[in-house]
Amino acid sequence: MKNIFSIEGKKGFITGAAQGIGKELATAFAEHGADVAIVDMNLELATQTAKEIADKTGRLVKAYQCNITCDDSVNKMMADYLVDFGTIDYCINNAGIATFDSAMDISASDFKKVVDVDLNGTFLTARAAARVMRDQGKGGSIVSTASMSGSLVNVPQTIANYCAAKAGVIQLTKALAVEWVKYGIRVNCVSPGYMLTDLVAALGDMHPIWLSKLPEGSRLGYPEDILAAYIYFVCDASKYATGSDLIVDGGYNCL
Ligand SMILES: NC(=O)c1ccc[n+]([C@@H]2O[C@H](COP(=O)([O-])OP(=O)(O)OC[C@H]3O[C@@H](n4cnc5c(N)ncnc54)[C@H](O)[C@@H]3O)[C@@H](O)[C@H]2O)c1
Repeated sequence: MKNIFSIEGKKGFITGAAQGIGKELATAFAEHGADVAIVDMNLELATQTAKEIADKTGRLVKAYQCNITCDDSVNKMMADYLVDFGTIDYCINNAGIATFDSAMDISASDFKKVVDVDLNGTFLTARAAARVMRDQGKGGSIVSTASMSGSLVNVPQTIANYCAAKAGVIQLTKALAVEWVKYGIRVNCVSPGYMLTDLVAALGDMHPIWLSKLPEGSRLGYPEDILAAYIYFVCDASKYATGSDLIVDGGYNCL
């Protein structure tokens, strides 16, 4: 019987995949039989990650340097990717940054920097993939990493630019889904809650506050808790899902 949740043989790229959630995603995709391009600004780490995953899984896994805020850099990455992979089935726009700044005091350039990576960068990589998917004529799946911060405001950290950018990613997802459904391109996003990546794990003084805002008995998450959401949006089981925002946050958004 056909496994409708299979991503075996699918090819695509994941941005911000040198480390953190993106690396976990790339590993899971390769372990489930997909070929993966690791797209990141940090080429050294991306190359190391690609080798690690390729050695472990035997899949085609290659690293590409790209600054997702720069259209030329994105287009070059897309062209290089196509030389090596030949086709694209999925694109995961996962690269993102956050800074903790008071909205009263943050400089205009620091505010814009987060919006540029998290929102504009997501658009540029989604569009580069969508243009190829349109020209190939076989559709494709685009999945962006938004955040629960796109639909609620986290405390005690002050991240107005991040909240605004991630809300933008959720609405961008819906707008692109509507524009591109005629090409067979599905566009969805995943909104994780707190994920204990190395960077988030290091913010230990905030954990008790975050835990107090979760339903009793819930917990902070791990990247492994959200992998299936991306696999779902890339596999054929989700063929009618487009414009969706799948929140995976242990129930944080319910209170
Ligand atoms: N960790 C969490 O708790 C959490 C929760 C919700 C959403 N998210 C989102 O998940 C995504 C990944 O988060 P993470 O915690 O794994 O982050 P991370 O900092 O561990 O990894 C981000 C990666 O993106 C790359 N990157 C940054 N700017 C880039 C650019 N301009 N071009 C190309 N690559 C760039 C970095 O080099 C890095 O490898 C982000 O979009 C983040 O907002 C994270």
